[in-house]
Amino acid sequence: MSDALLVGDTSVAAAVAHGRDALTAAGCDTPLLDAQLLLCEVLAVGRERLVLDREDLLSDCVRERYEALLERRVAREPVAYILGRRDFRRLGIGVDRRVLIPRPETELLVEVGLELPWGARVADVGTGSGAIALALADERPDLVVEGFDVDPDAVKVARDNAARLGLRVEFAVADLLGEGGYDAVLANLPYVPSGVELAPEIARYEPAGALFAGVDGLDVIRRLVAVITVRTPRPGLVALEIGPEQADAVSVLLRDAGFGSVTVRRDLAGRERVVVGSC
Ligand SMILES: C[S@@+](CC[C@H](N)C(=O)[O-])C[C@H]1O[C@@H](n2cnc3c(N)ncnc32)[C@H](O)[C@@H]1O
Repeated sequence: MSDALLVGDTSVAAAVAHGRDALTAAGCDTPLLDAQLLLCEVLAVGRERLVLDREDLLSDCVRERYEALLERRVAREPVAYILGRRDFRRLGIGVDRRVLIPRPETELLVEVGLELPWGARVADVGTGSGAIALALADERPDLVVEGFDVDPDAVKVARDNAARLGLRVEFAVADLLGEGGYDAVLANLPYVPSGVELAPEIARYEPAGALFAGVDGLDVIRRLVAVITVRTPRPGLVALEIGPEQADAVSVLLRDAGFGSVTVRRDLAGRERVVVGSC
């Protein structure tokens, strides 16, 4: 790290300030918050303790462990990978470099799932950590949820999450989805156009297979729409997470595939992020 290492007597407040400065110099977006989260992790306390105990001195062991986590963040490793988890809806989802870190906008797909009728059969395609499927199983235990991913490592992470959280979801390795009949298909598949430059946190650490999908980013989504269009029985609803510029193209795809009603949902920033087609 560019900054001097923490030495001698270091208070909680000084450690936070040191972390904030190091992460600011490294170009991180939220340096103070990140430093606080990393120190909380090492101390195994909530953030309020950093204020209440601000004059307390760190032990050598805590100081060294904190420095080690800061080093990783300075190299722009996402905080979620460093901590090994990310909160999603009501769940703490375990994550590592095998899976994409669940994003807040993906909750829009969960909200679509929550509106399904009692007992609906749902496929979460490109499940990754299992976040969408597990959130649905948690909030709507009547739904029959299955999660699919082409990457066996991702399926292992999803299964580990299900076991740790005690939630009943079947996860399987599949290109797109399994053979079952589904009332609804929810998918956050890769949709970044190839060649797009991403933040170091994403480009260096998140799996490329979870991100990129051809020149316009729609290669995998296009294939999914083609596959479910010829399914018997055909799912009555499909909801697809997209990049903000892709809503028009994906709406056309779904209309051409015969979905009579196509709507677009926006994230909290007002950007178009999910296209929903229903029969
Ligand atoms: C953007 S990540 C989404 C992960 C998770 N659903 C989430 O929202 O956090 C896309 C996931 O789709 C998977 N994937 C890519 N191509 C696929 C395919 N043809 N069939 C199934 N899964 C695929 C990737 O391995 C990755 O886990």
